[in-house]
Amino acid sequence: MNRFQAEKTPSLVTDPHFSPAERQNGNDSAQLAPSCAPKAPAPNLRGDYSHTHDDYTVDQNWEKYSAAEHALWRELYQRQSAILPGMAADDFIANLARMNAQDGIPKFDKISGQLFTATGWRLVAVPGLVPDDAFFNHLANRRFPVTVWLRKPEEIDYLVEPDVFHDFFGHVPMLFDPVFADYLAAYGAKGPEAIEHGSLKQLARLYWYMVEFGLIKTTDGLRAYGAGMLSSKSETLYCLSDPRPNRIGFALERVMRTDYKIDDFQKTYFVLESYQQLFEATLQDFENLYTRLASLPVIPPAGVLDSDRVYHFGNEGYAFDGTG
Ligand SMILES: [Fe+2]
Repeated sequence: MNRFQAEKTPSLVTDPHFSPAERQNGNDSAQLAPSCAPKAPAPNLRGDYSHTHDDYTVDQNWEKYSAAEHALWRELYQRQSAILPGMAADDFIANLARMNAQDGIPKFDKISGQLFTATGWRLVAVPGLVPDDAFFNHLANRRFPVTVWLRKPEEIDYLVEPDVFHDFFGHVPMLFDPVFADYLAAYGAKGPEAIEHGSLKQLARLYWYMVEFGLIKTTDGLRAYGAGMLSSKSETLYCLSDPRPNRIGFALERVMRTDYKIDDFQKTYFVLESYQQLFEATLQDFENLYTRLASLPVIPPAGVLDSDRVYHFGNEGYAFDGTG
């Protein structure tokens, strides 16, 4: 049992866009597994892949959600939205509110129309994890994959695979931000090059730290905008209020060199000056960057470099300290 299970708090420990083998190994030092073959769901994945289209999308079948599932959604939504003020970025909170998704599992088509008008993005339903190339293709074409199934009541505080609550509540609000929306499309467009170059690990770190667990500096202090923490009650509080993790200014190479754990709270969070900073960093030539990074050592999750802009030195007492 790890600390997560003992405390029954975090709702997310993995991302739908990382391979099952990687998740099982627990950190990004693990070998990235090959993507699952089309129409052949990877073993141990929870979703139903038997009705996927060629691009791994499925029909949401909204009418099949039960009253109990809508009730669980409301509970998750209310609990999580209550802790966002003073923790989440203002844009995240405002964009979450504009979707009016508090009353039940939303219809993706309805939100897609709203989102398309705002930033040109759409939501597509998926059964869960999708292969890397399909995932990057969706992002590059401004389609965000949202898992259709919702966790069970007994998983309200702990979930191994991301569900519709993580994907929708955590990710979709930021897609309404024009600059972040452009960033994520630019990120997706980098996928094929990373696959070809054997640099998926470096590109995945950028997603992990800056999409799932990103912080941003504001006039009111640091705020969270990442889907991983903002769909998890305990990590929302931990990422900003706990003395244990480092909080370090964003630098693209630094992030791409930094290992991470997927089965614990983060030991380091990276802080943006603005979403524009992230977008502009993503426009540079990654191929040369990958070549350069190949000669540099990986930075451990808790590492701090002399060159870092440190907002907070973690006190090296980590969430997972082995005491359960
Ligand atoms: Fe995610």
